[in-house]
Amino acid sequence: MKNKKVYIETYGCQMNLADSEVVGSLLHDDGYEFTKSLGDADIALVNTCSIRDHAEQRVISRLGEFKRYKSGNPEMVIGVLGCMAERLRTKLLDQLKLVDIVVGPDEYRKLPGLIESAFEGEKGIAVKLSKVENYDDIIPLRTDGVSAWVSVMRGCDKFCTFCVVPYTRGRERSRTLHGVVQEVEQLVQRGFREVTLLGQNVNSYRDDELDFADLLMSVAHIDPKLRVRFTTSHPQDMSDKLIEAIAGHENICAYIHLPVQSGSDRILDLMNRTYTIDHYMKLVEKITSTIPGVALSTDIIAGFPTETDEDHQATLDVIREVRYDGAFMFKYSPRENTKAWNMGDDVPDEVKSQRLTEIINLQRSISLEINKEMIGTTVEVLVEGTSKKSDTEFMGRTDTNKTVVFPEGDYKIGDYITVKIHEANAATLFGHVVTPQGWVDVRIAVEA
Ligand code: 5AD
Ligand code: SF4
Repeated sequence: MKNKKVYIETYGCQMNLADSEVVGSLLHDDGYEFTKSLGDADIALVNTCSIRDHAEQRVISRLGEFKRYKSGNPEMVIGVLGCMAERLRTKLLDQLKLVDIVVGPDEYRKLPGLIESAFEGEKGIAVKLSKVENYDDIIPLRTDGVSAWVSVMRGCDKFCTFCVVPYTRGRERSRTLHGVVQEVEQLVQRGFREVTLLGQNVNSYRDDELDFADLLMSVAHIDPKLRVRFTTSHPQDMSDKLIEAIAGHENICAYIHLPVQSGSDRILDLMNRTYTIDHYMKLVEKITSTIPGVALSTDIIAGFPTETDEDHQATLDVIREVRYDGAFMFKYSPRENTKAWNMGDDVPDEVKSQRLTEIINLQRSISLEINKEMIGTTVEVLVEGTSKKSDTEFMGRTDTNKTVVFPEGDYKIGDYITVKIHEANAATLFGHVVTPQGWVDVRIAVEA
């Protein structure tokens, strides 16, 4: 009987969201309750991200706000989890006096013990990385819903020279195929309609002879009405078998996040990305010719060390050539202890900002063009919830991962409906629900 309440705030990638659910499960099993309000919490945890300096600064300033709550409740235990815990270690305890516990991504099983000690006034740290920990036996604590994140592998062995992930999350290791399939079967039984299989580098997934394409197909076979997504793919390891698996299964979504990072071969080499633009474009060609209507998105870094205007123009060229549906675009942020750290940070901030703005503007105009082409077409949408902007409108996504907003109607969250698109901007499609038969059929089929 603990009666103590935990508050968890999560920053960063989807992996962190999934990890917070693992943490939730471990603490739930240990008798803790949860609260959505920091003011009610006995334990406040932040699951953090180190990918760029900006991400870390946000967490540091948020921890500054936690001080107010701790002074109102001096017994409150404050914990930093995730990548910042792994990267900064004891520095966090030394520099931020309010922090009681620091726990890296592979040590969450120690959290209950560390929290217990913290209540007795003992600060604690656990930041060892593991070659085997994959939390395969833990059922993440999720609230019921439509979409679930399912972590299938942890860590990264790619060592892109700009990236802290191999240092904060350690070596690659996969869960068992059986463990993942079992978890997804339970999610389907609970009413989830979409899963996203997660890994820093999912294409490296392995369970003995079985690879990521085998895993993806096994998950897709669980229920033909379950949408299956995955992220993130490294262009180096995108196999023909995987592309064919996506093409051959209607419920594996026709959407691939395929980070290119830069359009310049010289920069890609400095980044240790292990492919050239020629290889990348051939891969894109293979994907688009094999998977009809596939949507592609990417990650781009502006202002990597030594990047010239010519390199930057090459990045704009790739964006134009691929015509990505969407992109995540960042200014290069030097991270201590990475290889690129030693290359200096010689692109001035104004130049980085200027290049980033050009990249964003170009991508936005392409996304707008692509979305406008959808006007007048009819798409299948999985209803996910109310729209952010209005309670009388709902939102869902197409299998190509486009957000669609439509008026309320005779359907419910979790239904597949058919929507005719009548308006579009760079981020969202707007439409009205057509044939009720569309969703009635699907619902009857699912309930039967
Ligand atoms: N600076 C800027 N962007 C980075 N990313 C990773 N490390 C850095 C960095 N040091 C970006 C990459 C990666 C995405 C998750 O974050 O584009 O694909
Ligand atoms: Fe970082 Fe590269 Fe691994 Fe992605 S593939 S997590 S960018 S090292």
